[in-house]
Amino acid sequence: METNRLSPTLAATLNAQMTNEAHNSQIYLAYASWADDKGYGGIANFLFRHANEERNHMMKFLEYILKRGAKVVITEIPGPGADPVSVNDCFEKVFKYEVENTTKIYDIVNMSMAEKDWATWNFLQWFVKEQTEEETLALGLLDKIKVAGGENAKDDALYVLDKELATTPDDATLAQDVTVEKP
Ligand code: FEO
Repeated sequence: METNRLSPTLAATLNAQMTNEAHNSQIYLAYASWADDKGYGGIANFLFRHANEERNHMMKFLEYILKRGAKVVITEIPGPGADPVSVNDCFEKVFKYEVENTTKIYDIVNMSMAEKDWATWNFLQWFVKEQTEEETLALGLLDKIKVAGGENAKDDALYVLDKELATTPDDATLAQDVTVEKP
């Protein structure tokens, strides 16, 4: 009896996205290590925490594929690419990768809709919300580095930024959660 509830195309795409989340985790690990090596312990801490989040995203895809009766395919994870050249470059790349990831998630949402696979569509809504948060968080980082002087940020401004990021929460507040009392 057939117990697989995912189409071959969606199963392959969800497996690819699972690996992509692992790839994102490698990127954050690499950037965190770079930041730590440069003496930015707070930025490193933030990025290390985020590497864990990406790993959790990977697990969510893995678990979903299993629970729908399809086969999980574990493959090699692509490398993270070159190190950033500055804190500004680091935050720009983080934002770029998050936007690219959002595009990938949206593509899978479209596929699930075309197939009328509402279970997968429903599962993916968590990621739609998560990507909005991640983009907001990354945009916040870009704003902070811009205020600090962008590519020309001075050591003292970077010092303050680094201290702040050590305690920056992992989740951003979304527009839909804002009220008049709590803007
Ligand atoms: Fe799992 Fe930052 O996307």
